[in-house]
Amino acid sequence: MLHVLNHPLITHKLTTMRKIETGTKDFRQYLDEIASLMAYEITKDLPLRPINIETPMGKTVGYEMAQDVVLVPILRAGLGMVDGIQNMIPTAKVGHIGLYRDEETLEPHQYYAKFPKNIAQSIVLILDPMLATGGSAKAAIDMVKKTGATNIKLINLVGVQEGIDVIEKAHPDVDIYLAAKDEKLNEIGYIVPGLGDAGDRIFGTK
Ligand code: PRP
Ligand code: URA
Repeated sequence: MLHVLNHPLITHKLTTMRKIETGTKDFRQYLDEIASLMAYEITKDLPLRPINIETPMGKTVGYEMAQDVVLVPILRAGLGMVDGIQNMIPTAKVGHIGLYRDEETLEPHQYYAKFPKNIAQSIVLILDPMLATGGSAKAAIDMVKKTGATNIKLINLVGVQEGIDVIEKAHPDVDIYLAAKDEKLNEIGYIVPGLGDAGDRIFGTK
C-alpha cells in the first residue's frame, strides 16, 4: 500500500531540498530531518509487548518494542536517511545494499550486500530518497526477501507512479512511504520536478 506523508514540516523541508541553490550541507541536513519525521509516521503500527517495571511510585506494566528493526540503506543516497531514523530507533541495526543504476539502460547493478544476523525476524526498513523506475527498490526488496525477512517497508522521499507500479506489482506485501509523489520521469529516467541526482547532492560529487 502507498502512504504519502503530507505533513507541513516535511513539505517545507522537501521544498528547500528541491531548490537548485541548496548546497550539500543543507541538503544533507534536511534529508536527515525529514527521515526523522517520516520515522514517526512509519513506526506507528510497530508491535509492542507488555513488560513489568517499577517506577519510583510502584509496580506497573509498561510496553516495549516487540520486534527488532533493521535499516537497509541503498548505497549511496540511502545512507543520508540512516542517522535521522536511527535517532528515533537507536536500537536499530543497519544492513547495506550497494546498487547503481546503469545510465543507459536504467537497470540496477548490485555491488555490495551485508545484513545483520537477525534480519529474517526483524522489521526491515529499506531506505532510498528516490523511487524512479523502481528497478533499484525492486532489486533491493528481492535481496532482502532472500534473507527470509517478511516484514518489509520501503521508505523514499520522492517517487513517481512508474516506480510505485513496479513495486506494487512485484511486491504487493511491501508498504511504500513517500514524502511526496512527483509528476513524472524525464527521458533519461530522472524524477521531475524531483531533487536532481540525490547521491551527488548528498556527497558533493558533482
Ligand atoms: C539513484 C537513487 C536510487 C536509484 C533510483 O541511485 O538513489 O537508488 O537511482 O532509480 P530507479 O528507481 O530508476 O532504480 P544511483 O543509481 O544514481 O546511485 P548512487 O546513489 O550511488 O548515486
Ligand atoms: N536517481 C536520482 O538520484 N534522481 C532521480 O531523479 C532519479 C534517480
